[in-house]
Amino acid sequence: MRTAIFAHRGSKANRPENTLSAFEEAMRVGSDGIELDVHLTNDQEVVVMHDEKVNRTTNGKGQVKNFTLNELKELDAGSWFSPQYSGERVPTLKEVLELLSDFPGVLNIEFKTDRNTYPTIEERVARLVSRYRSNLPVVYSSFNHESLIRLKEIDSNADLALLLWERLAEPWRYTQQVGASAQHLWEPSALSETGKQLQKHGVKVRAWTVNKPKNMQKTFEMGIDAMITDYPEVALDLRKSF
Ligand code: G3P
Ligand code: CA
Repeated sequence: MRTAIFAHRGSKANRPENTLSAFEEAMRVGSDGIELDVHLTNDQEVVVMHDEKVNRTTNGKGQVKNFTLNELKELDAGSWFSPQYSGERVPTLKEVLELLSDFPGVLNIEFKTDRNTYPTIEERVARLVSRYRSNLPVVYSSFNHESLIRLKEIDSNADLALLLWERLAEPWRYTQQVGASAQHLWEPSALSETGKQLQKHGVKVRAWTVNKPKNMQKTFEMGIDAMITDYPEVALDLRKSF
């Protein structure tokens, strides 16, 4: 089985993460999947960013949930990475879905924040996905399993992947209970007996974040279903000679 290669937050090592430029680069190099993270603005727009605060990846300060979309759009989301990307803005999920309208690979949408903070985020994301990506693959992932359960209530065909830190005795049972087809596992767990056992029990395993060529090689050798990497171009190149 060929290990799929997902570009983490776009092409995180090469472009400012979770920007249109990062997603363009991920597609350009031929990634099999693209991973991103979502939040809600004060006026309930779904936007793509990793942190709950804008501080690290823009020139602003404060919580995403306290910005309106117009206020968020005033921020520079590229200069922190390199002056070359000073025109980058925080994208909405709608803008990303439009950009990826011809991308045949998997779009992995991670819900970072719990339902108390964003009670309507699952409905809003699912609505956008049904409008812009109804015939193309989408995987929803989250450490907040209530979000995943809610997504399944909204769309019984939703493809779910669990993120979890706890070590469970029989992690495949819990995966099945939640209705997920996969676990997205921290690299050391994925590349251990845990990853093998999950696959043996029919659970897909995607490893994050696999950045060292040595570990990319191990991921291929073990037949892990996918890796999520900041360096999709390196992984794609290595896979050619595997
Ligand atoms: O989805 C796997 C991985 O993205 C989780 O880590 O911090 O990049 O959201 P993080
Ligand atoms: Ca993520």
